[in-house]
Amino acid sequence: MIDLRGISQIYQGPSGPVEALRGIDLHVTPGEVFGIIGRSGAGKSSLVRVINLLNRPSSGQVWVAGRDMTRLPEAELRAARREIGMVFQHFNLLSSRTVWGNAALPLELAGMDGAQIRERVGPLLELVGLSHLADRYPAQISGGQKQRVGIARALASRPKVLLSDEATSALDPETTRSILELLRQVNRDLGVTVVLITHQMQVIKQIADRVAVIDAGRIAEMGGVVELFTRPREAITKSLIDEIVPQELPASVLSRVRQLAARLAPGQGGQLLRLSYAGEQAYEPILSHLIRELGLDLSILHGQIDEIQQQTFGSLAVYASGPMVRIGAAVDYLRGQGVAVRTVDVDD
Ligand SMILES: Nc1ncnc2c1ncn2[C@@H]1O[C@H](COP(=O)(O)OP(=O)(O)O)[C@@H](O)[C@H]1O
Ligand SMILES: [Mg+2]
Repeated sequence: MIDLRGISQIYQGPSGPVEALRGIDLHVTPGEVFGIIGRSGAGKSSLVRVINLLNRPSSGQVWVAGRDMTRLPEAELRAARREIGMVFQHFNLLSSRTVWGNAALPLELAGMDGAQIRERVGPLLELVGLSHLADRYPAQISGGQKQRVGIARALASRPKVLLSDEATSALDPETTRSILELLRQVNRDLGVTVVLITHQMQVIKQIADRVAVIDAGRIAEMGGVVELFTRPREAITKSLIDEIVPQELPASVLSRVRQLAARLAPGQGGQLLRLSYAGEQAYEPILSHLIRELGLDLSILHGQIDEIQQQTFGSLAVYASGPMVRIGAAVDYLRGQGVAVRTVDVDD
């Protein structure tokens, strides 16, 4: 649905050129929710604005629904843009227009006649749950309701793609959840492909199918959301995930590990393991295998269970002790079971 090829974006800043995007290649498949996450200044907004050519890239190609947007003549570009809706962090509603008037705006601008507009806007306001507020002005509704208007307006021209630039960043966590649910519903029921930009892993966790981590204008890491949470590779990804799955263990756990290590019998080894997995399997049978078949002692020190994309996602810190070769065998066994294993060394 969207193909970005070799995109770079250079701005002329007051103190010289700023390279906001450096060779981005990205493919978004039809019907998916694709998340783009990065810290402030990473280039997220630049990237999303390239997709509908609000920003013309300095180089590269932007393919949307089979057309290279960078090569379309102005009139065709305007038409192509109608297939791409966009929602913004600060809603960008017209304060002088009602909820209805805001949602109808793109249709009026496209020259649609009044009867057709009414036919289209009614169901849209119903979809976003605002039919009862159609005559209110933006100043008379909440932030979450304003974003619902923004979504209705973005969907008015029946786009194939919806771009969301930090659409929930100005909202509280509860409202964020309900807006993300609405975006999921739009994706599922209308088949709209969603590209969603955020600096919060929580948002990615709730809604995205796949995600690209962007750092200093480059894609640092990209893949399925469950995979990314289970096996983050890059430091930037780990630090973004930290908000949900703390990457460092608490000091109390580390001091417990030191106590256990000090008590090892002669000839015995000990190793702190951090395990994470996603999917159907439960930890218990896997851990009992280690105890029973490999004769290891296990102390479970820390853990949490969460859910991503209807899959159970768990992370666990265990201290395994016993003959050193068996600990090695345990790590192999766990990996064979699809559990991501990190061995952690604790200094005294
Ligand atoms: N119009 C502009 N002129 C000059 N520099 C810009 C412009 N827009 C963005 N930048 C710079 O480009 C980089 C990426 O910005 P942006 O895409 O807004 O990042 P993000 O949305 O991830 O915070 C930043 O260093 C920012 O200061
Ligand atoms: Mg931004």
